[in-house]
Amino acid sequence: MNFNSIKNICCIGAGYVGGPTMAVIAEKCPEIKITVVDVNEERIKAWNDNNLDNLPIYEPGLKEIVQKTRGKNLFFSTDIDKGIKEADMIFISVNTPTKTYGKGKGMAADLKFIELCARKIAEVSTESKIIVEKSTIPVRTAQTIKSILDNVGTGVKYHILSNPEFLAEGTAIDDLHNPDRVLIGGDHDSKEGQDALDTLTSIYEKWVPRERILQTNVWSSELSKLTANAFLAQRVSSINAMTALCEKTGADIEELARAVGTDTRIGNKFLKPSVGFGGSCFNKDILNLVYICKSLNLNEVASYWEQVLLINDYQKYRFADNIITTLYNTVTDKKIAFLGWAFKKNTNDTRESAAIYVADYLIEDKANIYVYDPKVEHPKMIRDLNELNTRDSSINESSLSPVDDPYLAVKDAHAVAILTEWDEFIEYDWEKIFSIMKKPAFVFDGRNILDSKKLTKIGFKVYQIGK
Ligand code: UDX
Ligand code: UDX
Repeated sequence: MNFNSIKNICCIGAGYVGGPTMAVIAEKCPEIKITVVDVNEERIKAWNDNNLDNLPIYEPGLKEIVQKTRGKNLFFSTDIDKGIKEADMIFISVNTPTKTYGKGKGMAADLKFIELCARKIAEVSTESKIIVEKSTIPVRTAQTIKSILDNVGTGVKYHILSNPEFLAEGTAIDDLHNPDRVLIGGDHDSKEGQDALDTLTSIYEKWVPRERILQTNVWSSELSKLTANAFLAQRVSSINAMTALCEKTGADIEELARAVGTDTRIGNKFLKPSVGFGGSCFNKDILNLVYICKSLNLNEVASYWEQVLLINDYQKYRFADNIITTLYNTVTDKKIAFLGWAFKKNTNDTRESAAIYVADYLIEDKANIYVYDPKVEHPKMIRDLNELNTRDSSINESSLSPVDDPYLAVKDAHAVAILTEWDEFIEYDWEKIFSIMKKPAFVFDGRNILDSKKLTKIGFKVYQIGK
């Protein structure tokens, strides 16, 4: 196979990874027809909505690309069988959440959706295909997929590649347009395997310089994705661990981060202190890594990575606890305004967002929380809290009030907490906010985005991370 033989691509899973990735491939390869399929009818309907503001995923630059390509060479459909049948190449982009039951509960990745995809492909395919694992998965999952395809299939030939996605939400389109590297794992040792590797390489080569496309064996590719996420999360936990020490010693975390980050061996990226990392990947992937290590009896390695998660939990707890302690040891019946609910700015994604855990902790102390987030839908916030299963959902509903107007959230509040680093929060009229809040007016800046000197001058009592 070569680039010219790929006329049809199907992607199973129209989520945060599948949707934007396929939109960019469609944009860059107008000669290839791309169909993104999903079992979720609502999601597909939203992807097909005439009003591009209703796409199920918010990413800067995404709707412009969808507008250019949808209906031309990019299609969204629930007809999974047809999508698979027509395709020369199939991307698997379904979710692989942490298992909530049985063996490996709370740690291992749940591969039931991956297996379902493999079985479906085996069942309906009539011609040879390249299968690309996009979902983040444990090492050696390709083997599982291969075993199902070879044993369930009808004699059709498959080539399996691993092509993990490194895009970060909020900058997905930029990351896809201009990736640091594209990683493709495959079977170098056979001619057919190398052909499959080269075919996918030729697609990315349409817009990514060849030297940034790395070919490896499948296992290296799968493990590289887990490792990259573990290293990134570790950096955040490292800087966050130092925030606790800074607060006790009078050192300033921003100065520390600058001093440390200017060492070119360390580098200055991903050293932003925060209320804790969230997102769909870091927590899940580290749990998965820890599980794999434990199951291979590498207990010291498992404990090492587990600490990254423990520090992250500690950071969220510390932030919430500081709010209670500072508000005279109780937040019972006090109004706390949350600015931000998403796990980072420029996304409507809330998976594992620190805001959920901080809210949960404060509600346990009977706080009334009013939340404003520019992109997150209101029912989603309540659902996020309910999913923690901490208490009766009626209590969550009466304790958490999502609002459309930030000034409504802060009116008569005892404290404002910044949970997401949305740029607009910096631009707010903080004099006005001060005038409508209860006094003393506290600000807990969980992202260190506000000008604390300016706020202090207005009259606020300001707490930032690591200061
Ligand atoms: C997910 C994983 O979280 C990530 O680890 C992996 O790298 C890629 O897939 P994301 O795209 O963010 O990332 O997940 P999500 O937004 O949940 O999208 C997955 C989609 O797959 C959902 O729309 C779901 O309906 C769909 N799906 C799931 C199927 O179409 N079929 C299935 O059998 C299971
Ligand atoms: C991450 C990886 O960056 C990406 O390569 C992979 O494909 C998926 O997982 P994502 O979760 O979308 O991407 O966002 P990322 O920018 O990595 O941020 C993750 C979390 O860490 C966010 O909650 C963010 O606020 C936090 N963070 C990040 C910090 O607290 N400090 C930092 O310096 C950087």
